[in-house]
Amino acid sequence: MELSDAIRGRRSVRRFTDMPVAKEMIEKILEVVDYCPNAGNRNSTRIVVITDRAVMDYIGKAHMQIIGNFNKGITTLPSEEDIAVSASAFHNAQAVAALFGPKNFYFSSADAYIMAQNISLAAFEQNVSTCIVGEVLNSLATGKGRELQKEMGIPEEFVPQVFITMGYCDGEYPKHPKRHYHDVIYV
Ligand SMILES: Cc1cc2nc3c(=O)[nH]c(=O)nc-3n(C[C@H](O)[C@H](O)[C@H](O)COP(=O)(O)O)c2cc1C
Repeated sequence: MELSDAIRGRRSVRRFTDMPVAKEMIEKILEVVDYCPNAGNRNSTRIVVITDRAVMDYIGKAHMQIIGNFNKGITTLPSEEDIAVSASAFHNAQAVAALFGPKNFYFSSADAYIMAQNISLAAFEQNVSTCIVGEVLNSLATGKGRELQKEMGIPEEFVPQVFITMGYCDGEYPKHPKRHYHDVIYV
């Protein structure tokens, strides 16, 4: 596939079939991480691939609650009760790549988002659909979230920066939503 076809063709997909994404496929897609530009070539992004349904659901639901509150100006953490009954920001993805970056590194977020885009394009080339789900505060800041992060082996000084959901598109592939940027200014 031509790079421009991947860039133009990729869409955010939020409805997936029940078909799992094979581990070998995820490994193939993630080969691109070794080629991502990253600040100072410090390679500080930590990657966790989640396929455990319970873990995926918990983080997706916590994310949904946290971003919902954040949009209303509420920055306190949601209760476990609210998380339990929430919809998941990951929808019915079959796998989620969670990209963590160090708290005190200015380019943590930039590094992770650049990597997320490359992962999305590499996945598209393999017919695996994705959606980049941006982090606002910290979806793993709850008591249970902190436990999960510990179980993943990601140190406390790292925070999630972005998630990439993965799966096979269910139904019609989304159409290109038109952009409405201002005209480019050439000086
Ligand atoms: C920084 C960033 C954060 C995003 N966060 C979310 C999100 O939380 N939930 C979601 O469903 N999509 C999210 N998206 C996907 C965008 O909604 C999507 O890229 C946009 O609507 C354009 O559609 P396209 O990706 O199909 O071209 C995010 C994308 C970016 C780049």
